[in-house]
Amino acid sequence: MARTSTPGPSSSNHLEAEFKTALQGILPGGLRFFASIGSTNDEALAWASDGAPDFSLVIANEQTKGRGRMGRRWFTPPGSALAFSLVLRPQGIEREKVGLFSGLGALALVDALQAFDITAQVKWPNDVLIGRKKVAGILVETVWLGLEVDSVVLGMGVNVSPDSIPPPEGLNFPATCVHAEGPVLSASEGPHPISRALLLKTLLEAIQRRRAMLASDTFLRAWESALAFRGESVRVWGSDAEPFAGQILGLEPDGSLQLRLPGGTITVIHFGEVHLRPI
Ligand code: BTN
Repeated sequence: MARTSTPGPSSSNHLEAEFKTALQGILPGGLRFFASIGSTNDEALAWASDGAPDFSLVIANEQTKGRGRMGRRWFTPPGSALAFSLVLRPQGIEREKVGLFSGLGALALVDALQAFDITAQVKWPNDVLIGRKKVAGILVETVWLGLEVDSVVLGMGVNVSPDSIPPPEGLNFPATCVHAEGPVLSASEGPHPISRALLLKTLLEAIQRRRAMLASDTFLRAWESALAFRGESVRVWGSDAEPFAGQILGLEPDGSLQLRLPGGTITVIHFGEVHLRPI
């Protein structure tokens, strides 16, 4: 089984080879690996505009200008995280379901971690938590051709080893990493933590599996059962100046969040510049 590499020019060649070997046969679109890059999403958006085929992947060992939601920076020091952007070209019914693509990434990561006996949950809309701490964030960006969606870039950042966790002053929610929560796998050469290449392979396979059911009720129900804080009260910051509180009920067919307000009214929160916290 592959081991996590340490950074450096030769180890970066080794890491690229390790990813290419692990992902052989599951990336019809192609793979661009970078030892260091500004943002994999920027590279994937440019590649998508240039005709990247469906399921093309940009992956980096380090990002110097990683972008998060709501204009935030995303911390990706070398050798410690999964930082990648997947170009998807929605076909048929998927074109009407583009709003579900962040849920697709989040649910697939929950599936992939479960394959290693790690239970994770989705903090709506775009985060993945282990034990109520953030382990991954998702940034979905869309390339439009007139009024039609041309392609979707699914950018995911997963904290894998402890070095990937931002310093406390850079955190707006408690954070963890896969190696802090995950099992030690034993192999013939001795026990070692899950490698980034194996985690990515498992995750991409889960994305393919869940994507095939994107339009179904099964997908929505699986996403809903993976929701963090379901039944709990949360505070929501949206476009209004003031945050408000409500109890998480579940998901609408388009992936919007249903909340019960303190007076009993049920309201729906749409995707966008919104985030929530448990109370
Ligand atoms: C968030 O939690 O705010 C979303 C973070 C998304 C980070 C990933 S890392 C790979 C890709 N490239 C970027 O610049 N951002 C996304």
